[in-house]
Amino acid sequence: MIKNLHERIDLPDEADSEKLAAQLADCVSAGLVLTFSGEIGSGKTTFIRAMLRALGVSGAIKSPTFSLVESYQCQQLQIHHFDLYRIQDEDELEYIGFRDYFVSEAVSCIEWPERAKNCLTKVDLRFTLSVKGRGRLLNIDALSNAGEKILTCLAGNQ
Ligand SMILES: Nc1ncnc2c1ncn2[C@@H]1O[C@H](COP(=O)(O)OP(=O)(O)OP(=O)(O)O)[C@@H](O)[C@H]1O
Ligand SMILES: [Mg+2]
Repeated sequence: MIKNLHERIDLPDEADSEKLAAQLADCVSAGLVLTFSGEIGSGKTTFIRAMLRALGVSGAIKSPTFSLVESYQCQQLQIHHFDLYRIQDEDELEYIGFRDYFVSEAVSCIEWPERAKNCLTKVDLRFTLSVKGRGRLLNIDALSNAGEKILTCLAGNQ
């Protein structure tokens, strides 16, 4: 499906998002920070939830809309799923100990990363979703060497 890593990827149906997210799960490793941008309802949680399932999370996967963060442990991997939509200023992130989540054993998936402003210092992959008709468009940008490796892996999984 991914021909050129800088192209937009068509995801006409929720199942397409879920398939790509499962392929991504095969490529992720500890220490990665993945951000998910896009308007309300553009499919960020859907994508992350499918990735968590593929990584082996078996219980309920709640959207962290109110809790700000939901954390999971799968084998050796810690996964933190943030939704920062409700963050008004950076002090609130200090209060939840935001920086302490970014340890080398963990993968972080962050919805609404724009709200973190300067608190988010290192991002490996930036996912940008938008609505296209009944489906979605996805743009993926690698912002680090680690991110580029993941994209190469993902392209190989197609
Ligand atoms: N590729 C897709 N094609 C069509 N519909 C999709 C696709 N991906 C997700 N959806 C649908 O979009 C809706 C909103 O999805 P989701 O809750 O994941 O959005 P979100 O970006 O996390 O929103 P929010 O900003 O409120 O957290 C859901 O009903 C989901 O089924
Ligand atoms: Mg969401």
